[in-house]
Amino acid sequence: MLIDNHGRTINYLRLAVTDRCNLRCAYCMPEHGALFAKRDALLSLEELKRVSSIMVDMGISKIRITGGEPFVRKDIMPLLAHLSELKGLEEISITTNATGIGPHIEDLKRYGIRNINVSLDAIRPETFKKITKRDTFQYVYDNLVHLITEGFNARINFVVLEDQNIEDIYALMELQERFPIGVRFLEEMPFNGTDRNFNTLQWDYKRILEHIQKRYPDFTKIEGPATSTSINYQIPGHKGTFGLIPSFSRTFCGSCNRIRITATGDVITCLYGKPKANLKQLLADNKSDNAVRNLIKDVLGKRAKTGFEAQQQDELAFKRSMTAIGG
Ligand code: 5AD
Ligand code: SF4
Repeated sequence: MLIDNHGRTINYLRLAVTDRCNLRCAYCMPEHGALFAKRDALLSLEELKRVSSIMVDMGISKIRITGGEPFVRKDIMPLLAHLSELKGLEEISITTNATGIGPHIEDLKRYGIRNINVSLDAIRPETFKKITKRDTFQYVYDNLVHLITEGFNARINFVVLEDQNIEDIYALMELQERFPIGVRFLEEMPFNGTDRNFNTLQWDYKRILEHIQKRYPDFTKIEGPATSTSINYQIPGHKGTFGLIPSFSRTFCGSCNRIRITATGDVITCLYGKPKANLKQLLADNKSDNAVRNLIKDVLGKRAKTGFEAQQQDELAFKRSMTAIGG
């Protein structure tokens, strides 16, 4: 079992497989000139398989595949096939923009992967295009409906963006009214790889909830696992649920069970802190499993207590972009 220096059990790995994406959401990366890693700096398929196996062996029971956009990586399916065979790995999930997931839906089912988070910040095609700079809304929507009808546990991540998608909040609420889907509203974080920075947030989770309450005054809280980052609610008669993720307010650090590995092998112990080690060279040099294990144990022995503490230790915290961190 993996336990950090604050007594928190770490059993959840967020593994980024690429820093590239076919969309250009401004809150995640610059529209032009995003600095992507060179291909040979990324962990190879074999390295990703190996590091996953080692991490599961050390006590990781849940892996979420992130990016960038995971499905732009050509060898994503062989990686998922490998994960589906790992004993001790209880849950595999994926965070995707769902533009290119359609052709893989059958295989995902076959591998027993059921949890898909779809990043979708608009339900009006014009807003979608403004936010992502691409015209792919229809693919996303069709794939989302396909996932739901195929019985996936599909959830929507909606980043609330001042002056951009506030009007879509109610439209997303209508979606969870009609479909058995969880819609989660995320606070924006200043990880966009540009100078657009902030230290206070107009639309924090309290304001988002107040806004929802104006139209839907009647909801009940759903009790979830202590390690959950979302606060979830159910409205009587609605097929789905909705939730809030205080990703900027950081109310959930006390029960954080996560570790992140980026596409280039950086080991990140907090979203708001700098990478604490890098695995690429160890893996490329085919160093022993023990060398990898020791590195992981070492960084987990020095974790910041909260995202605020991590941010204080790192003057570059708000210079990075989400697509490089992995989400
Ligand atoms: N603030 C909040 N959420 C973000 N995401 C990406 N960039 C940001 C940001 N700057 C979201 C994506 C995805 C999740 C992993 O993180 O939309 O759903
Ligand atoms: Fe791509 Fe997701 Fe970043 Fe948008 S938020 S650019 S979909 S990785």
